[in-house]
Amino acid sequence: MSRGDGPAAARWRRLVTDRLAELERLSPAAGSVSGSFWDSRAGRYAAAVRRANTERDPFLRRLRRLTDASSTVIDVGAGTGRFALVLADEVDHVTAVEPSAAMLAILRRDAQELGAANVTALQATWDEARVEPADVAFSAFVLTLVPDAVSFLAKLDATARHHALLYLGAYSGDAVLDPLWRHFHGAPRAPGPSYLDAVAVLRELGIEHRIRIVEIPDHRRWATIDDAVESYRDALLLDDTAQVRAELAGLLASWLPGRRGAYRSPLRVMPAAIVEWRGGRLTGR
Ligand SMILES: C[S@@+](CC[C@H](N)C(=O)[O-])C[C@H]1O[C@@H](n2cnc3c(N)ncnc32)[C@H](O)[C@@H]1O
Repeated sequence: MSRGDGPAAARWRRLVTDRLAELERLSPAAGSVSGSFWDSRAGRYAAAVRRANTERDPFLRRLRRLTDASSTVIDVGAGTGRFALVLADEVDHVTAVEPSAAMLAILRRDAQELGAANVTALQATWDEARVEPADVAFSAFVLTLVPDAVSFLAKLDATARHHALLYLGAYSGDAVLDPLWRHFHGAPRAPGPSYLDAVAVLRELGIEHRIRIVEIPDHRRWATIDDAVESYRDALLLDDTAQVRAELAGLLASWLPGRRGAYRSPLRVMPAAIVEWRGGRLTGR
């Protein structure tokens, strides 16, 4: 069996492929998750991560411990740049790899506003990206969108001179949304891979790694039920019709904690996994 042909890699590929097929079936116009899918979400995503208070994020704290003013860094699937742009102020150089044009446009605009001249923004998937190795290579909340975990991880490993890191959810958002999902879709959602599936692929590759489970405070708030409907309609992949909106508004009004003027997420924290290893494990550096 060659590297990457193992059962964990095959399971990963199946879970992601089935999940993406379901997304495609329910939202045929949404576009590819390695590109245009995120284009229509970029503005909302930027607003959400601004509220999330990156300064207190455990992943940023870990990245800060591994870098200094002389470090070079690569952020794979950088989104609107919540980690890349904070680090730019503290390290020598940041390369932000991001396939969505709209996400990248926000990252570039914010980099310019901050005067961050040491950020290279590259529009590409990780598979396509041509980058030089960096001291630290990391990817936050991207891997579960990529069917070929082995290539993704092998490239991250080869690109990281010192440290490679992944940030992945460590709770089941699907389980939280399951009653709402089944109410509208009549069947459970196709399960995506979890951080444990990622860890199983790393084991299969023979990459020794360290895992730390951290908690991200969930600060999601909606001033009106209509704002909450917009957010959950997207998360539940529901059509934008008056009937869906009315039905969802009724359900959310009783399901979300809080009251008129201050609805909040049912979660207090969102557990996440920081998985890290010394780069160059596969190339034997
Ligand atoms: C949930 S967002 C995370 C963004 C950012 N890392 C953060 O934590 O705020 C996922 C991002 O992954 C990007 N993405 C999807 N497939 C990718 C791929 N194959 N290579 C690199 N980035 C990808 C999307 O365009 C999107 O911006």
